[in-house]
Amino acid sequence: MQLSIAILPGDYIGPEVMGAALPVLEAVLKRGGHILDYSTHPVGGAGIDIAGKALPDATLAACSRADAILFGSVGGPKWEKLPPAEQPERASLLPLRKHFKLFANIRPGLLPEALINASPVRPERIARGIDMVCIRELTGGLYFGQPKRTTPLPDGDIEAVDTMIYRKSEIERITEVAIATARARHKRLLSVDKANVLECSVLWRKTVAAYVAEKAPDIALSHLYVDNAAMQLVRDPAAFDVLLTENMFGDILSDEMAAVCGSLGMLSSASLGDVKNRHGLPFGLYEPAGGSAPDIAGKNIANPCAQILSAALMLRHSFGLHAEADAIDAAVKKTIAEGIRTADIAFGATAAGTREMGAAVLARL
Ligand code: IPM
Ligand code: MG
Repeated sequence: MQLSIAILPGDYIGPEVMGAALPVLEAVLKRGGHILDYSTHPVGGAGIDIAGKALPDATLAACSRADAILFGSVGGPKWEKLPPAEQPERASLLPLRKHFKLFANIRPGLLPEALINASPVRPERIARGIDMVCIRELTGGLYFGQPKRTTPLPDGDIEAVDTMIYRKSEIERITEVAIATARARHKRLLSVDKANVLECSVLWRKTVAAYVAEKAPDIALSHLYVDNAAMQLVRDPAAFDVLLTENMFGDILSDEMAAVCGSLGMLSSASLGDVKNRHGLPFGLYEPAGGSAPDIAGKNIANPCAQILSAALMLRHSFGLHAEADAIDAAVKKTIAEGIRTADIAFGATAAGTREMGAAVLARL
């Protein structure tokens, strides 16, 4: 198989973790007799510096030609003085998600037994680790609703507005993804909303309930308010399986999930839509969900696992290469189990650097 991939390393730790992930991807594909055809393009702050905008036309064009996008991370203090709408995150990552209609964000929350001590949760509550998935709606809600503006008022005050909008059809299509995910696991689905306060959440809950009742009576569906879900996630994360929620809640809960799973540096993600690539599989954007981490950039200490695991998700979803994806997942697991870890998951032991961690995963492939 020929895999055409647009590589967008981005800013700060982005290029570092991408540098550790690429050799792993190349090796697993070479071994399987596949041809990796990739090109690297600036995005985010790097796009602003090189081409004058966060999502350069050439970068977008390269993404359109590719079967999938492997994304690093964008943003940081260097571009903080720009107007909010021109900053790397809002001017590159969000438009990419919107442009390719990547409405389904899949974030696996995995705490292997070997990392139980890295979790802030009491060990007896997570004795067998954590294995959950967050399905986050990614192109609706507060992130994209209009109006979105800041206005000085006649009385000298200033007003900012964001708008939360959801359509029934948007809720149904993400519910469909959640159902498929639950079916491939334990047929349990938890939908999270704020239906005691928000109109969007009332529609969300009604729509999810009706859709699951009609299309997936085999799925055991439950609902939680988001505040309660946030509390349960830190009290008893092992009880979670497939969590479905809207854009903003998913942003917050997936970071919390990553923290209870030991580190944000382990959180991979897949963003998918309805568009198919040349292989008839979903075109997608794959990225570590942890951000560009300016504070630790350039020091060879960032955890490359989220980027490496994102590459595995890409092989799985956009190319159907499950054996190759399994091999990467297993190599990461083995590396960690053997005690080779970056500082975020080393809890006191001597830490491996970004490059050393990448090399260790590669060696265990
Ligand atoms: C994420 C990130 C992004 C988001 C930021 C960088 C815009 O936090 O992917 O979770 O809020 O979606
Ligand atoms: Mg986030």
